[in-house]
Amino acid sequence: MTRKILVTSALPYANGPLHLGHMVEYTQTDIWVRYQRLRGNDCIYVCADDAHGTPIMLRAQSEGITPEKLVSRMHREHLQDFTAFGISFDTYHSTHSPENFALSQEIYRRLRNQEHIVVREIEQAYDPVAGIFLPDRFIRGTCPSCGASDQYGDNCEACGATYSPTDLLNPVSAVSGAVPERRPAEHYFFRLSDFSDFLKEWIHGGALQPEMANKLDEWFQTGLSDWDISRDAPYFGIPVPDAPGKYFYVWLDALPGYMAATRNWCDTHNASFDDYWGPDAGAEVYHFIGKDIIYFHALFWPAMLQGAGFRLPTGIFAHGFMTVNGSKMSKSRGTSITAVQYLQHLEPEFLRYYFASKLNSRVEDIDLSLEDFFQKGNGDLVGKIVNLAARAAGFIHKHFAGQLAQSLGEDAPLYRSLSEQRGKIATAYESREYGRAIREILSIADQANAYVDAKAPWLLAKDAGQRAALHQVCTVTLNCFRLLVTLLSPVVPQLAERSMAFLQSTLDWNALETPLLGHTIQVYEHLLQRMEKTAVEALVQIPAVSQTDLMGETRIPEPAAEPGISIDEFSRVDLRIARILSAEAVEGADKLLRLQLDIGENRPRTVFAGIKKSYIPEDLAGRLTVMVANLSPRKLRFGISEGMVLAASGPEGGPFLLAPDSGAQPGMKVG
Ligand code: 2FM
Ligand code: ZN
Repeated sequence: MTRKILVTSALPYANGPLHLGHMVEYTQTDIWVRYQRLRGNDCIYVCADDAHGTPIMLRAQSEGITPEKLVSRMHREHLQDFTAFGISFDTYHSTHSPENFALSQEIYRRLRNQEHIVVREIEQAYDPVAGIFLPDRFIRGTCPSCGASDQYGDNCEACGATYSPTDLLNPVSAVSGAVPERRPAEHYFFRLSDFSDFLKEWIHGGALQPEMANKLDEWFQTGLSDWDISRDAPYFGIPVPDAPGKYFYVWLDALPGYMAATRNWCDTHNASFDDYWGPDAGAEVYHFIGKDIIYFHALFWPAMLQGAGFRLPTGIFAHGFMTVNGSKMSKSRGTSITAVQYLQHLEPEFLRYYFASKLNSRVEDIDLSLEDFFQKGNGDLVGKIVNLAARAAGFIHKHFAGQLAQSLGEDAPLYRSLSEQRGKIATAYESREYGRAIREILSIADQANAYVDAKAPWLLAKDAGQRAALHQVCTVTLNCFRLLVTLLSPVVPQLAERSMAFLQSTLDWNALETPLLGHTIQVYEHLLQRMEKTAVEALVQIPAVSQTDLMGETRIPEPAAEPGISIDEFSRVDLRIARILSAEAVEGADKLLRLQLDIGENRPRTVFAGIKKSYIPEDLAGRLTVMVANLSPRKLRFGISEGMVLAASGPEGGPFLLAPDSGAQPGMKVG
């Protein structure tokens, strides 16, 4: 039975170029979509640029153009990159579109009519020079935890602490450099907690990967908070109905952007929107996303859909992040590679094939190891698969006028047994276990190559008496090639196109049943050239894109990469055991404690530490911890900090003060 399927990938922000991290997701999705189409399913793939929000507004301002102009340029550039990488969208739309204005506002109205919207006054940072409210990302200052300067308003890249911008010391606006003010503003909130019971059940109902569902359970432990969905003018976004000067927060209209893109496709293809999004829609709907935006897709989005009377997604598939040679993509190491930079050096087929070989259905990070990439592309894809065609095609033209034999003779069972393995490969594709699909395909390729080696057509060709045998061997080989390239066609669509031209045949899943016989093929020309080592090396030597190019509302920009430090450099850090003599809250700082520390000197040291969240000050007196004793003293608003205590923190919690085992004494050197 033909399935009707709608597939989406996350909508990229319209404020910077696509990089290879993006391409993991679009490749993963595109392979799945192409696989569905190969199996005859009615599958549409829609996407759009995520066009709204402060970063886009500010970038346009800094370029001296309107945001509309910026988003239309970005749209063009993104679409060009996607097309070059063979991403087969049925429509690539924009959230800055009439369809999205209408749908986002309609969803909002329905939620409001059901009393899921509340209005509250909140205080927010305001830049009096730029005249805008500042998102946390646009406030910089000194980390209250470790004292590192020039940190973001919501987390410190030096020590990893997370805090609210009010805790940042010496805050300044990243837009104008002005000191931000606190200003009250009325904001609109979506009452997510109205959907708690529904969501708690829904996330375990099969639409999510189990690890994601379990992760989301954590959010229910503290209770779901209301979601702040409005921003004040000036803001590049969609107006909140009946609320002059208020706009939807970018995420509120990004999610309906999936629907807007679908509507655009339906309107241009005479199809019914309700078949995809209506409450009784028959189609399956799948969202492919990165793990960092699961919260939006698996909590806010289903709640919005449920509240507004639309259908829910059938599945939400999260993938991990991409690293390059084992590390986070880094501009200073040259590993933050844009799609355009990649295409200047290499064919997209190699990257798509490599990603496929590394992807599975779990939420794991994938590493682009350039050495492995080189081996897999040249050794496996070209060496084992494309080469099969090259090994046989020459003889077919030289001795048989380009025509395949009329039968596979006694090798017919071999072809049948290889082609029957496609069931396993189908299951792997369907369940997004692409790495397994590639391993199965390579195993067929190995068997086909072993067959060619055993039959040695180059020897048969020397013996005029062996013409029939030669014809048969080459015909079997080319049918194996056709089988392999059909199985791989969702992964390497351009290679598949060229192979169709060469074989003069479509690549059809069901047609694999019957081998190509008595059929004329084209002269073999290179279907895919091996990569040059220098081209692969050149990928990581390209000047990096600027930080602002990668800036988004939820992506956390990477820390500036430091080369490794030597043992000598490390030993310059004077780590000491310290006894906390006293600890007290600091007036005017939500997260800081003032600590008096004994490190065996003739007077105690004063250190301000951002650990208030985790400790009752009185409980700390007498405890041992570890401090950096030779950090230059820093003048803070509240006094001078003469060092730093070490504490662990991460998304899971913290800060947790480090403490030595018993026996350690104040002043002892650590290291
Ligand atoms: O995280 C991001 O890059 C967002 N632009 C993704 C939006 S996905 C959907 F909600 F639109
Ligand atoms: Zn810090």
